[in-house]
Amino acid sequence: MTSVTSLFAPVETDLDLLTHNLKGLVGARHPILSAAAEHLFGAGGKRLRPAIVLLLAKATMANQEITPKHRRLAEITEMIHTASLVHDDVVDESSVRRGVPTVHSRFGNRIAVLAGDFLFAQSSWYLANLDNLRVVKLLSQVIMDLAEGEIQQGLNRFDTSLSIEAYLEKSYFKTASLLANSAKATGVLSDISEVTINQLYAYGRHLGLAFQIVDDILDFTSSDEVLGKPACSDLRSGNLTAPVLYTMAEQPFLATLIEREFAEASDFDQAIELIHQGNGIQKSRDLAAEQSRLAVECLASLPPSAAKQALQDIADYVLRRVF
Ligand code: IPE
Ligand code: IPE
Ligand code: MG
Ligand code: MG
Repeated sequence: MTSVTSLFAPVETDLDLLTHNLKGLVGARHPILSAAAEHLFGAGGKRLRPAIVLLLAKATMANQEITPKHRRLAEITEMIHTASLVHDDVVDESSVRRGVPTVHSRFGNRIAVLAGDFLFAQSSWYLANLDNLRVVKLLSQVIMDLAEGEIQQGLNRFDTSLSIEAYLEKSYFKTASLLANSAKATGVLSDISEVTINQLYAYGRHLGLAFQIVDDILDFTSSDEVLGKPACSDLRSGNLTAPVLYTMAEQPFLATLIEREFAEASDFDQAIELIHQGNGIQKSRDLAAEQSRLAVECLASLPPSAAKQALQDIADYVLRRVF
């Protein structure tokens, strides 16, 4: 499979190998798990997280050599991400992911919960086998953060007093923590200076926040077909994201509609209209652009290379992406 973007060119063959390996790593323990793995890893995921790990490996190693441990870290990163999506789709009751039916809509909720658990457990096993305690701690933290993010989101549904800061904190837990900690772990495996390791963490953190803000904008501006997952679903389920928070500040009536949980027939359409008419979407774009700019700044100390250029371009791509 070739990537959705030529940005990953320096690691394209490595990513193809990774996709092949991922299907094998989940193994043949149970036909349903293999079917779920084949289904998920064979579908159209962008593989952004492993691409970043592999590019960072190249950008930080002498001779730009990706080591087997870097490769395994990239696989673990995609496995954790995919596990979180399987569970997220159960929580969000989403029917489509990566352009194909979600695991729970195809195999049922019980299988989806177990398949997600299995992927998390499997990733922990491969993580432990890297034999690097610091990396184990970084990625274990991510698995805790993912659950924390989903819990925060669940508790704050339809809560119109949610602040942008609380939204960003939740977005860190749900999305940016994985990018930040896997970037940091890449630096640990490359045995580079602590200062640079911390810059890689900050790169992943800013990039992850920009990525999630754009995901939340696309939920309002795109379609199911383009996204390969349901659009216009966050607000309906009470998940108040950046476009909503900014629009509420200009249009208090939006808060009224949300507080009564769209009880009247036209409430939801009216809310969507308010969001499209106001400046909330543009303000969200500005917020994402600022995070993307900060991400690029964090790469300053890396020596010039094609991989570094790709990492800079990815910061721009997350703002332009359409799915
Ligand atoms: C989706 O991530 C979940 C979010 C953090 C918004 P991606 O958009 O990277 O999903 P895939 O891997 O390409 O399917
Ligand atoms: C990100 O949040 C999902 C995870 C990191 C688990 P979303 O709920 O916005 O993700 P999508 O939109 O379903 O991909
Ligand atoms: Mg979701
Ligand atoms: Mg989303």
